[in-house]
Amino acid sequence: MTEIAGRVAVVTGGGSGIGRGLALELAAQGAAVGVADIIYDNAVAVAKAIRDAGGKAHPVKCDVIERDSVNAMRDEVAKALGPVSLLFANAGATSFEKVTDMTERDVDWIIHVNMMGVTNCILAFYPDMARARDGHIFATASTAGLMPHWIPYHAPYSGAKMGIIGLMLNLRMEAAEYGVGATVLCPGGVVSNMKAKNMSYRPERFGGPTDEEVRITSSFIEHDKLIFRPADEVARLCLKAVRANKPMVISDGKMRDIFIRTYQTLVHDAFDFVDEFDAQDENLRTRQKN
Ligand SMILES: NC(=O)c1ccc[n+]([C@@H]2O[C@H](COP(=O)([O-])OP(=O)(O)OC[C@H]3O[C@@H](n4cnc5c(N)ncnc54)[C@H](O)[C@@H]3O)[C@@H](O)[C@H]2O)c1
Repeated sequence: MTEIAGRVAVVTGGGSGIGRGLALELAAQGAAVGVADIIYDNAVAVAKAIRDAGGKAHPVKCDVIERDSVNAMRDEVAKALGPVSLLFANAGATSFEKVTDMTERDVDWIIHVNMMGVTNCILAFYPDMARARDGHIFATASTAGLMPHWIPYHAPYSGAKMGIIGLMLNLRMEAAEYGVGATVLCPGGVVSNMKAKNMSYRPERFGGPTDEEVRITSSFIEHDKLIFRPADEVARLCLKAVRANKPMVISDGKMRDIFIRTYQTLVHDAFDFVDEFDAQDENLRTRQKN
């Protein structure tokens, strides 16, 4: 059971959306919170809201794509609030475009901010937690990673988010040896600033920032397939999962059947295919005879 009260937490992407919800809820449950974000003004606003409500918080500018920036953020939060034992590696950015319509920098940004963003945070915080034999790592992936064929024109994002799920579920076994917990969040739809502000998070070396809205090739988001939950509700769900050291949190309970159907079809097809191949394969029959 990972308690929240009295701990020091860091939330990346803490200035907006899910991260903001997590930061406010962590503070409400008694944690001191390092609010880390590439948009410093938003981190400052969230830290101020926490302090105004009587909590403890420290805002930090941080680009999770840059390892030095993440390490500097860790040191600054430790100096201001104490050593961090709860990491929420949540910052991310999205795209809904065909790969053929994307530049190399478009793709690089999405892979780096999501996959390397989480990886850099784990490298910065996890070894200290393992040494202290205490702590919890939480990372935000996506339903698009859990079920990559569900949303069209989302390949780099789905790939990076599936990578985060693999990283977290595997790391969880190792972390358990040190008494460190690990939870990965796969949100469905959550109310946030992603659609309006996404391109403003894009660092200069990846061709940003710009003030355009996120480009959506497919009309998927307009379909009534996603329920968008408020971030504060999702944050409460996440912290309950952290306390119980759950491996994975899914924010949209309506997706159970579509998930099971999708994977049943995919997995049966792949196993049927290899069974059929093996049944017809002369080499295999000869090998089995000898
Ligand atoms: N909202 C949803 O429906 C949804 C669904 C699935 C997954 N997610 C994931 O949830 C996470 C949070 O997104 P959100 O929906 O709250 O969106 P949001 O746009 O409201 O928040 C994203 C935050 O990440 C920050 N950020 C972006 N790049 C950064 C960088 N390089 N370094 C540090 N901070 C950076 C932004 O400044 C922003 O504060 C993301 O990882 C996103 O992929 C969201």
